[in-house]
Amino acid sequence: MVVLVTGANGQLGQAIQFIAKNYLNVNFVFCNVTDLDISNKENCQTVFHKTKPDFCINTAAYTAVDKAESEPEKAELINVTGAKNLAETCKEFDATLIHISTDFVFDGSNVKPYSETDIPNPKGVYGQTKLDGEKAIQEVFSNYYIIRTSWVYSQFGNNFMKTMLRLASERTSLSVVNDQIGTPTNAVDLADCLLTIIIQHPTPNTQYGIYNFSNEGQCSWYDFAKKIVELNNISIHLQSIPTTSFPTPAARPKYSVLDKSKIKSTFGITIKNWEESLKKAIK
Ligand SMILES: NC(=O)c1ccc[n+]([C@@H]2O[C@H](COP(=O)([O-])OP(=O)(O)OC[C@H]3O[C@@H](n4cnc5c(N)ncnc54)[C@H](OP(=O)(O)O)[C@@H]3O)[C@@H](O)[C@H]2O)c1
Repeated sequence: MVVLVTGANGQLGQAIQFIAKNYLNVNFVFCNVTDLDISNKENCQTVFHKTKPDFCINTAAYTAVDKAESEPEKAELINVTGAKNLAETCKEFDATLIHISTDFVFDGSNVKPYSETDIPNPKGVYGQTKLDGEKAIQEVFSNYYIIRTSWVYSQFGNNFMKTMLRLASERTSLSVVNDQIGTPTNAVDLADCLLTIIIQHPTPNTQYGIYNFSNEGQCSWYDFAKKIVELNNISIHLQSIPTTSFPTPAARPKYSVLDKSKIKSTFGITIKNWEESLKKAIK
């Protein structure tokens, strides 16, 4: 089985490379942006022609949430046109697309975990382009899994955990927002989930569609930061602040906990609590 992974040098791409050794029956083809620029359809076709993937995991994305507000065309080119190019190429080469999306498709006004059928209403350019990317795929074909995830961190790439550790080594106090609630996702757990879906993929398939995945539980960014410094035995003054004291160009959902019942019941996946998974990443 051939699995092509786009955005291989990104955080999730590196997490998939990390677990690849555990999946001996899978022949992985890892492509970074130089090997495969998803915004270039011909480039997608050339790579698919050469590698003949059964599955394409699209981890490539424009992920600079705040910068997207001033670069909407660039975000759209990668998150919408790129997703569409991959869907069309998967259709042409009879491959299944596994595409990663985000909790930022929601506006955060829910008071209970978001299910896959809740109505999206993104608050910023990044979330809008990710939602438009989902729609672009759905318009092309039905052989897709769209996995919405949240607050991704790991030992790889750039993420909140690594930023907190860097700042904690430079400062004596840190302020972190306490009124945005969500669930951290260890990228390695997400990578394992994607491979579970691939391995369980039935023929003919009745399970395509949108799925949520994050770790279990919920917390604020402040709680997350507190746990990160605690587990690293770092002594620092952490101050919890409201979002209004930390304005950002892009608005974030106030609440973006995802309901994982569908992915758990469909694929028999057991999901670790976020604190347990954070310990693993820190170790
Ligand atoms: N990180 C989070 O908290 C989070 C939360 C929810 C959902 N997600 C979603 O999860 C997925 C993976 O995120 P991540 O954290 O791994 O992001 P990441 O670390 O920013 O990785 C994205 C990768 O995509 C590459 N890329 C950019 N433009 C490309 C193009 N035109 N063609 C091919 N590759 C391109 C980037 O390369 P360069 O670095 O060279 O530009 C980067 O290596 C994304 O779909 C993201 O939207 C992430």
